[in-house]
Amino acid sequence: KIWIVDFGSQYTQLITRKTRELGFSSEIISVDECEARFKSNSLPECLVLSGGPQSVFEDPHDYSFIFNHKELPVLGICYGMQLLGKFFGGVVEKGIIGEYGHADIHFTGAFKIPSTPTKMSVWMSHSDHVSKVPPEFDVVMESSNKLVSGIKHTSRPIMGLQFHPEVEHSKHGKSVLDYFYQKIAKLSKDWNASEMLEEAFAMVKEIGDKKVLCAFSGGVDSLVAATLSEKILGGNLYCFFVDNGLLRTQDYIHIEKLKKETNLNIEVIDAKKEFLGALENVSEPEAKRKIIGKMFIEIFEKKVKDFETNHKIHFEYLLQGTLYPDVIESSPHINGGKSVTIKSHHNVGGLPERMKLKLLEPLRHLFKDEVREMGLSLNLKRDWVYRHPFPGPGLGVRILGEITPKAIKACQDSDQILYEELLEAKLYHSTWQAFTVYLPVQTVGVKGDGRAYENVICLRMVNSSDGMTANWSHFPHEFLEVVSRRITNEVAGITRVVYDITSKPPGTIEWE
Ligand code: XMP
Repeated sequence: KIWIVDFGSQYTQLITRKTRELGFSSEIISVDECEARFKSNSLPECLVLSGGPQSVFEDPHDYSFIFNHKELPVLGICYGMQLLGKFFGGVVEKGIIGEYGHADIHFTGAFKIPSTPTKMSVWMSHSDHVSKVPPEFDVVMESSNKLVSGIKHTSRPIMGLQFHPEVEHSKHGKSVLDYFYQKIAKLSKDWNASEMLEEAFAMVKEIGDKKVLCAFSGGVDSLVAATLSEKILGGNLYCFFVDNGLLRTQDYIHIEKLKKETNLNIEVIDAKKEFLGALENVSEPEAKRKIIGKMFIEIFEKKVKDFETNHKIHFEYLLQGTLYPDVIESSPHINGGKSVTIKSHHNVGGLPERMKLKLLEPLRHLFKDEVREMGLSLNLKRDWVYRHPFPGPGLGVRILGEITPKAIKACQDSDQILYEELLEAKLYHSTWQAFTVYLPVQTVGVKGDGRAYENVICLRMVNSSDGMTANWSHFPHEFLEVVSRRITNEVAGITRVVYDITSKPPGTIEWE
C-alpha cells in the first residue's frame, strides 16, 4: 500500500484518486500518524509526500524516521520535493516570484519518461523552490523559467516533483506518477473493482450474525452500501426509508422500482403528516432545516423502536454510506485536526449515539467514482448509480417560504417535467444537478383570455465536480423553451418560469 502523507495541500485527495485510478492502493495519513506507524514498525511499500501551504523553513519535524529506511521509495510533490531538498543537504530558497498555474517543463540530461513528450505543460503552485540540488540527486526536469522541476536520487528510489502531476491541468501527470510507481518504486498494481469489493465485504463480514439497520435514501451511496451488505447479511439487513412528504415524483417512482427489482428489504415509513404539520407557518430557511433534521431523527427512532418491539429483534449496527472525503475531512489526524468541518446538515447526524448503534461504513475508503464503479459491478442499473445528488431536506430547501401542499405539488410537477425533458434530450448526465425551485412571489400573466396572478418556478441547473463550486449549466434555448412551455401549461398555479444564471460562489446550489 502507498501512504500519501498530507501536508495540507488542496490536491492531496487527488493524489490518492489518481494513484488508485492507476491501480495502486493508497490511503491518506497525517505526518503524526505516519511517524507513529513507523515507530511501531508498520511501514508502507511507498510514501508520497504531498504539497502544502507552509514553508519548509517553519517545519519542525525531523524526517530521518522516514529517510533512514534506505530501500523505501519516496515521491515528494511540491512541498514534498522541498522537504527532500532540505533533508538531503540542498538549498531551498524562499520564493520572490514563484510559479503559479501553467508552466512548461522539459527533461534534462539523459532522463526520460517513455510515455510522455520531452516537453510538458504542467500545473505549478509554489513560491519556495529548490535552488541547489542535494549532492546525491540529479536534476531531471527544469521549467522554462529555469527553475528545478524534478529531482531524482542517484541510487535510492526517491524522486521529487515541483509541479502537481495529480491535477488534470498537468496533461501527462498521470504517466509521470505511473512511471514513478512502476519503474522507480517497482510496485505492482493491486487496486481494482474486485479488490474494492473484497475490502468492503470484509468489513461487513466482521460484524457477524447481527441485525443491521440502514437509513435508506435510495441515493447512490446508501443503495450501493445496502446492496453490497445485503450480499453478506441477507435477511439481517433492514432498510428504512422515511417519506417526509418532501420528495420528488421521481423519488417515489425510484423507491418503488428498488422494492421490486432488488433483494433489499425496504420498509417505507410514511411520515408526511408529521413533517408537514411541524413545518406549518415556518418560512425561515434555517428553522425549516432544523425542524426537518430533528423530525427525521425522532420519527426514525420511534418507528425503529416500534419495529423492534413488534418483530422481537434488536438492531446493533447502523449501516451508512459514508465516503472517504467525509472520513478524511472529519479525521482529527489530518492537518493536526485543523481541517474543514463537514456539512452540518448530515441527515443521520447524532442518530448512532442516540440509538446506541455501532456504525457499519463499508464505503469509508472510497471516492464517489469508485462507489459508482462498485455499484455497476454489483449489477445495479447505470441510471441508479448515476443519479444526481438530492439533499436530505429535499424539497424543503427548494420551496422558498412556507411549505404548503400547493407549493409541494407545483415543485414536484415542475421538477418531473424538467426531469423527463432532460432524459428526452439526453442532457441528464451532462449536468451535476438540475431541479426546480418554487418562489413565493406572484407575478401577473395572461392565461386564456384572463388575467393570472400566479407563482414563479425557477430552473436551477449546475455543473460541478464536488458541489463545492459550480457553474450554471448553459443549456440550449430550445430545451429551455420546451421546459418553460410545459411547466406553464401543465403545472397549476404557475405563470412564469425563470432560469438561474448564478454560479457558486456566490450563489449556493440550493436556494435555501
Ligand atoms: P449548496 O446549496 O450548499 O449545496 O451549494 C452543495 C451540495 O450539497 C447538497 N446539499 C445537501 N445535501 N443535506 C444533504 O445531504 C443537506 O441539507 C444539503 N444541502 C445542500 C446540494 O444539493 C448540493 O449538491
